[in-house]
Amino acid sequence: MSHRVAVLAGDGVGPEVVGEARKALDALGLPIDWAELPWGSAWYHEHGRMMPEDWEGELDGFQAVLLGAIGDPSVPDHVSLWGSILELRQRLDLWANLRPCRLLPGIPGPLAGRGPDDFDILFVRENTEGEYAGVGGRAHRGLPTEVALETSVFTRAGVERVVRLAFECAAQRRGLLTSATKSNASRFGYVLWDEVVVEIAGDFPGVRVERVLVDALAARMVRSPDSLDVVVASNLFADILTDLGAAIQGGMGMAASANIAPGTSELGIFEPVHGSAPDIAGQGVANPAGAIWSAVLMLEHLDEADAAARLLGALEDVCRDGPRTRDVGGSATTREVGDAVAARVAAG
Ligand code: NAI
Ligand code: MG
Repeated sequence: MSHRVAVLAGDGVGPEVVGEARKALDALGLPIDWAELPWGSAWYHEHGRMMPEDWEGELDGFQAVLLGAIGDPSVPDHVSLWGSILELRQRLDLWANLRPCRLLPGIPGPLAGRGPDDFDILFVRENTEGEYAGVGGRAHRGLPTEVALETSVFTRAGVERVVRLAFECAAQRRGLLTSATKSNASRFGYVLWDEVVVEIAGDFPGVRVERVLVDALAARMVRSPDSLDVVVASNLFADILTDLGAAIQGGMGMAASANIAPGTSELGIFEPVHGSAPDIAGQGVANPAGAIWSAVLMLEHLDEADAAARLLGALEDVCRDGPRTRDVGGSATTREVGDAVAARVAAG
């Protein structure tokens, strides 16, 4: 049976990197029915919204969306993001965002004296609530008394499911789970989070769990990244930590992510961590590695474990041997890297 995959290439470098991910997937020879979704900032200028009103209906029957990036200087970022990726994550209840952060051999990392053996962290990010729940408002606009409220929302059920998933991931890896909160300055949401972690820890005696304040964790990612295995954190905290993680794994162009709802039949959305990179869009120099790695995560979601391993192996080969784009020390174009990965895949 073939897989039904929708491509939402989006804006800026999105189409450039997603095109290479798709090329690599095609080289695997899997039965995939592709559909293209023309949504994004250009669609917004034509239709007044980032996606059609019945986007849920249009996604019906798909198992996965391969997404490039959304965002363009001509549309306010909060409009483009809330009209697309945040709406998708929330309405489809894609509550888990998995972000593997690994420095691949051949990619220059910025930490002196550190190499691939020192940096292999899986971030499990809560993806629908917390600081990005979308609860708040503004009043008295433009007056000196203007007020803006942005309310963090933490539910027991929401924290439980993502923390449990993180424990399961840690049990399958090196057995260490680090939970990042800020429950010294914030007294409610993160304190609930910490309590849930302690409760669920009882079900995973084989996993060592530690609670770390998020600011200290940022420092530790730089000082001793090898002391971390799985990190679970709220929407905002993991968003920030994974940009730091991306920098340590060679740059924004390297980082991949999966938006999923484990245990359900809901489709998954797979996207590089980076945005539309307007500063380099159209130049053909964006690094497609994060998009290709996201395609690996998509194959895992589609129960194509062998194909996922083949594609990741091909990406690792190309990172080690080149060609590489300029952000990771090379001079190749996006297409040259994508061609090389596809050729490795085809070579078996
Ligand atoms: P960005 O991730 O687009 O760019 C940050 C820096 O990383 C830039 O210097 C850029 O050139 C570089 N970079 C990004 N992707 C790269 C790649 N594949 N290869 C090489 N270098 C790469 O973040 P920024 O500039 O803050 O946001 C740009 C737009 O993207 C905004 O409209 C923002 O809202 C949107 N955005 C969208 C996201 C999404 O679709 N999920 C995520 C983050 C930002
Ligand atoms: Mg981000």
